[in-house]
Amino acid sequence: MRDAKQRAWRLLEESMVTYRGQPVGTVAAHDPETEALNYDQVFTRDFAISAFAFLLDGRPEIVRNFLATAVRLQSHERQLDCFKPGEGLIPASFKVTDHGDGEELFADFGEHAIARVAPVDSGFWWLLTLQAYVHVSEDRAFLNQAEVQQAIRLVLDLSMTSRFDMFPTMLVPDGSFMIDRRMGVYGYPIDIQAQFFVALCAAADLLDAEEPANARYRAALQERLPHLAHHVRTYYWLDLARLNQIYRYGVEEYGPTAVNKFNIHPDAIPDWLMDWLPETGGYLVGNVGPGRIDFRYFAQGNLLACAAGLATKTQVSALMQLIAQRYDDLVGQMPLKLCFPALEGQDWRILTGCDPKNRPWSYHNGGNWPVLLWLLTLVGLRAGADELVERALSDAERRLVQDDWPEYYDGRRGRLVGQQARRHQTWSAAGYLVACQLLERPERAELLHLGRSLEGAHCAALV
Ligand code: GLC
Repeated sequence: MRDAKQRAWRLLEESMVTYRGQPVGTVAAHDPETEALNYDQVFTRDFAISAFAFLLDGRPEIVRNFLATAVRLQSHERQLDCFKPGEGLIPASFKVTDHGDGEELFADFGEHAIARVAPVDSGFWWLLTLQAYVHVSEDRAFLNQAEVQQAIRLVLDLSMTSRFDMFPTMLVPDGSFMIDRRMGVYGYPIDIQAQFFVALCAAADLLDAEEPANARYRAALQERLPHLAHHVRTYYWLDLARLNQIYRYGVEEYGPTAVNKFNIHPDAIPDWLMDWLPETGGYLVGNVGPGRIDFRYFAQGNLLACAAGLATKTQVSALMQLIAQRYDDLVGQMPLKLCFPALEGQDWRILTGCDPKNRPWSYHNGGNWPVLLWLLTLVGLRAGADELVERALSDAERRLVQDDWPEYYDGRRGRLVGQQARRHQTWSAAGYLVACQLLERPERAELLHLGRSLEGAHCAALV
């Protein structure tokens, strides 16, 4: 264990990026054997996990520099030009370039990424990183700088103001978060809803109450959060009782008395689910929208919802029971399955566009991602599932060291190193380190502060 931790820290140190002499982030991966593409950039979502590791280790400086760099790079102009990033967008990634006349920052808002995917989650990860930084360092002077407060408001403007629908959840295009390829995760994917919730809680906690410009944002958050929580807890939750209800749903109900609010047709329930769902477990389904429930299980959204108090205590314990009873499917030999089950056959062809990188049981489509270890540990320890967490961690560390920290693993049980996985993947090491830090001292979880404003006045209606 000590050896694995030392190696993980070394990898993190080697991945550091500096700008004008200051550390500002970590590259996604530095695998000398694979073409870098954009893996040599500092990704906002990837760095959040490195940030947690640095913060729990008492090293806030790099995190502060990253946060300030992201504020500088955030898009600041209201745009009618469709080729410019919308106001408030935080880049998916950035890199430091030097063409001989000094170092410059180059930001990518998704316009350079494969398939030009929009990073909806960047602003949310930035907020979570900021919240953890402020609570660990107690650096309120940084937080209360006018630019930082404005950056928070801009993220809220972008995610709360413009919309076509009238749900508390957030409507997004396909591949707009960690799953950044076509995977049928457009609409209202649970990963985004959980992140949206955690980010709104963070904003409620971080907006300076003394700043008059913040008043209407604080009021909007207080109003939105309970609705969002109710929506997710009610319509996304699935256990055997709820499945039975959906199975016997009436359809084509009109108006406010409709029981089947989204007009879900019972025939849409997939065959695999009937026998797979245990008597006592449950989870938040992958997506809910008009005429649609995506019954796939997505690890990040479920665990984040549990970590942040978006899922109720009963739901957290049911999720842990599901994970324990379906351990081979959801944890496997390399924690953790990102999405279960994989899209296969015609579903894979239609929903991924025949994407060979996301063929069944590979990469986002049913691959296993060690970065998620931190979330499993956070939720597992809080729910008293210590044995499950320890087993997952000890299985993982042996292979991670031996395989040189791959980005992901393939196969139903995650036995094979991912076919196109980078090695020396920074967030695989960071996810493992945060898990170790939490296991050694579980009280450190409070420092990350996820969803903690629930306990404060902002979200009183939820407690
Ligand atoms: C891939 C992943 C994405 C990650 C990036 C850098 O694009 O899908 O989630 O942020 O690599 O590691």
